[in-house]
Amino acid sequence: MKELKLALMGFGNAGQAFARMLLEKDEEIRRKYNTRVIVVAITTKTRGNLVDGWGIDLEKALKNMENSGRFDKILGTLENATSQTIADTVNYDVLVEMTPLEFTSGKMATDHIRSALRRGRHAISANKGPVAWAYKELTQLAAENDCRFLYETTIMDGTPIFNMTRNALKLCQVTEVTGILNSATNYILCELAKGRTKEELVAEGKKRGFIEANPAMDVDGYDAAAKVAVIANVLMEGDLTPTDVERTGIRDITREDVEKATAGDKVIKVMCRAYRDENGKVCGTVGPEEVDKDSIYASIEGTSSIITIKTDLMGTLTIIEEAPEVQQTAYGILADLMTIMKALPEGAK
Ligand SMILES: NC(=O)c1ccc[n+]([C@@H]2O[C@H](COP(=O)([O-])OP(=O)(O)OC[C@H]3O[C@@H](n4cnc5c(N)ncnc54)[C@H](OP(=O)(O)O)[C@@H]3O)[C@@H](O)[C@H]2O)c1
Repeated sequence: MKELKLALMGFGNAGQAFARMLLEKDEEIRRKYNTRVIVVAITTKTRGNLVDGWGIDLEKALKNMENSGRFDKILGTLENATSQTIADTVNYDVLVEMTPLEFTSGKMATDHIRSALRRGRHAISANKGPVAWAYKELTQLAAENDCRFLYETTIMDGTPIFNMTRNALKLCQVTEVTGILNSATNYILCELAKGRTKEELVAEGKKRGFIEANPAMDVDGYDAAAKVAVIANVLMEGDLTPTDVERTGIRDITREDVEKATAGDKVIKVMCRAYRDENGKVCGTVGPEEVDKDSIYASIEGTSSIITIKTDLMGTLTIIEEAPEVQQTAYGILADLMTIMKALPEGAK
């Protein structure tokens, strides 16, 4: 049986959901991929780090988070090292990057991934930062070092946007992408109309895990702008960073604005767009717009998302992700892991 050692950078909502999924699918992964997946490192900012080359007991690690919010020493070497040192030195096969988005640089996550790829290890990013800030550099580094850099869950969680375009839309050129890609703001706009307050909604989103640790990331459109940069870079060969995306958030949108739009048969939605301008340059925008109440975008409720991909050969495709929970984020990471496992040579250890 093959073996794949993972290092998890970050063990918050996404990290814990992914660990639960690994436990749940362990037997099936062994059977279908002839691979034993073990986690040899977990890093956090405030809860300690774990390193164990023989494999961390994930069930206990999850229990620790539930019970005390910190790792128990018994589970492995409680490393005081930084996550960067762990990325640089631990013997893993795949680094899974799940730390929070740093909108203005993507730096820490990019450094983790750069280190993994330079060491010839695969990298999976749930964090948009590395794809939004350093896509070209990291894909080139992966190619030079014969490893993979994958990031399915950065857009609409496990919805197979990149798997689909990579595998089923070969030779198609993506000419434009439109979508509602930030669940948190969509949920807030829908619920504002029902009389709830923004503060109440942000607190709920944090608890349920669909709002970033720093709510301004969602409310001020930073998360959506990073997503537009990811889409522009990956699907349209653009060269955008999140700060190049024209961005307006929903901080100034009031319940009255929402009601006024409704009275005019419109709905306010935060629309994300990547397109080519008249000179062929790839551009991106994010901001609230009034859309017709009968449009498909108006029908996107709560934490659901939608993406419309226009192509030259396959016309226009629209995909909706309905009311995802953090499990779908974990599935996107698992999907990338399956891509890596499928390509593992027999006898890999
Ligand atoms: N949640 C979702 O549904 C979802 C969907 C798609 C993509 N993503 C992306 O996935 C990533 C993780 O999201 P999340 O919801 O799991 O976030 P989260 O719950 O805030 O967890 C972040 C984790 O990263 C750790 N961390 C923060 N700074 C660190 C540092 N300097 N060094 C090492 N670890 C550090 C945190 O440590 P502590 O535990 O000590 O705080 C925590 O364990 C984000 O980039 C997010 O945008 C999330």
